[in-house]
Amino acid sequence: MENKSFKDKVTDVLSDFGKAVNAEVEKVNDFAKQEKILFDACEKFKKILKDQLVRVEDMKAQGDFVDYAALDTIRIGVCGGDGIGPIISAEARRVLEFMLADLVESGKVEFVNIEGLTIENRIAVGKAIPDDVMEALKSCHIILKGPTTTPQKGSGMPNIESANVAMRKALDLFANIRPVKVPEEGINWTIFRENTEGGYAVGSSGFNVTEDLAVDFTITTTQGSDRIARLAYDYARKNGFTRVSLVTKANVIKTTDGNFLEDCHKVADLYPEITTDEWYADIMTAKLVDQKRRRDFQVLLLPNLYGDIISDEAAEFQGGVGTAGCANIGKKYAMFEAIHGSAPRMIKDGRGQYADPCSMLRACVMLLSHIGLQDRADKLERALDICSFEEKKLVITGRDTGATCEDFGNYVMETLKSLM
Ligand code: IPM
Ligand code: MG
Repeated sequence: MENKSFKDKVTDVLSDFGKAVNAEVEKVNDFAKQEKILFDACEKFKKILKDQLVRVEDMKAQGDFVDYAALDTIRIGVCGGDGIGPIISAEARRVLEFMLADLVESGKVEFVNIEGLTIENRIAVGKAIPDDVMEALKSCHIILKGPTTTPQKGSGMPNIESANVAMRKALDLFANIRPVKVPEEGINWTIFRENTEGGYAVGSSGFNVTEDLAVDFTITTTQGSDRIARLAYDYARKNGFTRVSLVTKANVIKTTDGNFLEDCHKVADLYPEITTDEWYADIMTAKLVDQKRRRDFQVLLLPNLYGDIISDEAAEFQGGVGTAGCANIGKKYAMFEAIHGSAPRMIKDGRGQYADPCSMLRACVMLLSHIGLQDRADKLERALDICSFEEKKLVITGRDTGATCEDFGNYVMETLKSLM
């Protein structure tokens, strides 16, 4: 064995000691780093929760729905959006103006053009909805909105929130109502999708805690669940439906989906004539393709994300998302739109003029009904059924093998004339 000098021995001991101290210092540093990461994450979480608590108070303080009959003028703002949006919304506006000519003439209805809700503008100002557009939206009672492009992480576009989602939240449009009808198959579903909470409430505020750990949030409030449930059950009662199906994943997402279910059941108790049943979202997607079972569904009531997914599936039976419109209803504002996106590929391929306006026209049916013009809503629905399913003099294929958007609009107006 090596015989070390006293000096070397001392050096070794000091070196070991130094290493031990360094290791301890590293541990302390790691601990401090982790504490800092946790602190920062908690601060972000705190901010999210604070904002949501404010939202709860706002919901508690909310008044009743607007009474459109009592308004001197109902202002309808039209936003073109991106891609095929300006084409199909212009067509929908033309049909609406045709149907509401007398009310525009008398001043009861006014159409307002809202420019600037484009992806280019949104990127330029780094906001989901530019301030001037937001102001214009808030000066209207009703919005007719074309689809907007939503940047996705990794798409090369900045990470701005979806304009749809931002508008639904800013105008507190808590109910997204999506009807789907296929009469010959006995399908008549109305989907009530909660529109301001769930995975969407703070969808753009998720964050990477560390390089390896990411979190998103899903939010449920008593007020949020209660108000969508009341609207769905009210709708069922007023329209003679006898069944409301609640769709969640409360077996896994126990707290938020569990609370949603509980709150819906409390509302259900106020409607004893209506049967309530519960489904998990996965089996519901399966049952919708089960021809024997699916005709039994009537009103579906779901949290935001499941509503998003299931409404696309449901629309497919009716001819695809291009045929489906929706109403986004709040107490103060309401917005009507297609359920699909802006189809940028159609524009890129130069096929924009062949875009199908039916989704926006179906949204107009709901718009008319919402502002109290049920007769006109029924006529437009009838005309669309004739044009799309019965007579089918013109067919939209999305390319030059079919009718243009404008020709189809003319066809709908001609059909309307025969019904008026
Ligand atoms: C819809 C759309 C939007 C949503 C997108 C465009 C953000 O899919 O209206 O269903 O997820 O809500
Ligand atoms: Mg969707």
